[in-house]
Amino acid sequence: MTSRAECWQAKPASTHAVMMQPTWWQRGVIYQIYPRSFQDANGDGIGDLSGVVQRLDYLGWLGVDALWLSPFYPSPMADFGYDVADYCDVDPRFGTLADFDALVGAAHARGLRVLVDFVPNHTSNEHPWFRESRASCASPRRDWYLWRDPAPGGGPPNNWLAHFGGPAWTLDATTGQYYYHAFLPEQPDLNWRNPAVVAAMLDVMRFWLGRGADGFRVDVIWHLLKDADCRDNPPNPDWHPGQGPSRRVLPLYVADQPGVHDLVAAMRAVCEEYPGDRLLIGEIYLPLARLIAYYGEHNSGAHLPFNFQLLRLPWRAPVIREAVNTYEAMLPPGAWPNWVLGNHDHHRIATRVGPAQARVAAMLLLTLRGTPTLYQGDELGMVDVPIPPAAVQDPYERNVPGHGFGRDPERTPMQWDQGPGAGFTTGTPWLPLAQDADRVNVVTLREDPRSLLTLHRRLLALRRAEPALSVGDYTPRDSHGDVFAFARAAAGRRLTVTLNLGHEPHEAVLPAGRVLLSTHLDREGDAVGGVVQLRPDEGIIALG
Ligand code: NOJ
Repeated sequence: MTSRAECWQAKPASTHAVMMQPTWWQRGVIYQIYPRSFQDANGDGIGDLSGVVQRLDYLGWLGVDALWLSPFYPSPMADFGYDVADYCDVDPRFGTLADFDALVGAAHARGLRVLVDFVPNHTSNEHPWFRESRASCASPRRDWYLWRDPAPGGGPPNNWLAHFGGPAWTLDATTGQYYYHAFLPEQPDLNWRNPAVVAAMLDVMRFWLGRGADGFRVDVIWHLLKDADCRDNPPNPDWHPGQGPSRRVLPLYVADQPGVHDLVAAMRAVCEEYPGDRLLIGEIYLPLARLIAYYGEHNSGAHLPFNFQLLRLPWRAPVIREAVNTYEAMLPPGAWPNWVLGNHDHHRIATRVGPAQARVAAMLLLTLRGTPTLYQGDELGMVDVPIPPAAVQDPYERNVPGHGFGRDPERTPMQWDQGPGAGFTTGTPWLPLAQDADRVNVVTLREDPRSLLTLHRRLLALRRAEPALSVGDYTPRDSHGDVFAFARAAAGRRLTVTLNLGHEPHEAVLPAGRVLLSTHLDREGDAVGGVVQLRPDEGIIALG
């Protein structure tokens, strides 16, 4: 048992002035919808856009501000929509463009913004552009993709590896040349050095912005350019299987290349062509120093380069404290922070830290400075669902089985109620439902005043009511052992957040004040001040 008292001392570093006029996305909370698994309105076992519309009232009740829709474009679904065959339409499995328009209208009517997943790095191999490109070396679209001759002795042009296993080059029999794909062979990479590609893709953005999209989450934005000389990547001396097959070599020449920031800035400029603070989020997995470069010179790049540290770091208070404080200290002037706790590519938070600590994680996500992104179902405490081999859908698991790379477990259908199909579908769900769906579901948990869902709703309401939490300064407090404590303040009102990231009781020293919210939802209004005993897996937000 830990019982060390913490000393209450503000550190001068890492505080930021409150902005005068924060944008909606600085104040707001983003909710990620994986449409395939959110709500099926037509009984085919696959979620769809009409299903999302049916559940907008839930999102309004929950209290989020924006929804990000993972891809819904026409697609052969080799990578479940991240292989786009038409950037300006909706896959019939998800609905129609009219359904998208209806969704945007219904969301806006409720004050919810809609973010579209833009997948610019690669298309499907069934996209008409690629069909034309592969048809002949003389095709006007040949240079829209990355074609190279075989190596002098035969075989792929160099040693670049694909993320989902195997070489990143596939030989195309039609012309005898190889094409490059960072992911599946069914996902050929576009050539972003070709101005016609850039122009076409920026027009795709205009297409969705013109239909009312409030911005984009841009898939693998740091991948857009590759070394023009196709130099071999260096071997990775520290490689181990847990890093994934492509990490046998270091991605020196396939991502984060010189010039990529100009492309990000061009995307940002397109967002600026439209009124209403359209948002540009970049998906980027890079070390911090490289990540923050994606804010761009004078913040001309992504508004929010996704900060995935909470997805990847060991869940230990000293590690998390250090990560938050380092990130705060490294942010360029004027750059707005953001935090992500879960997404469709990573094991669920409740699986990673356990159900009790998931409450603390929720409080952390929703009280740190910066825009939080919440993944569908995490507000219920949904866990990774084991997928029997015969039911595996994810190409990553199919290609590299048994290493835990498969992403189906965190993509299982949303658990709405106790009924058959968990309220997700009247048909056969495309992935198995969780065993706990009769217990862990929206209808059951919203009635429970102590549930994780109730906690999320209360946290979101508090965040909305307290500018200190959404746009206030962040000041770390001296914390020890399993405790992470910090203050948020705006307009003379200070809230302290004290989190026990461990499973044992822990003492903490708090300033005099009163509890606004605890993860256990049972000590609101209590006076605090001086030494306070935090229970295992407990977090407290206090005024004072
Ligand atoms: C990142 C997406 O989040 C992931 O699901 C996808 O497989 C890859 N990009 C390829 O598009």
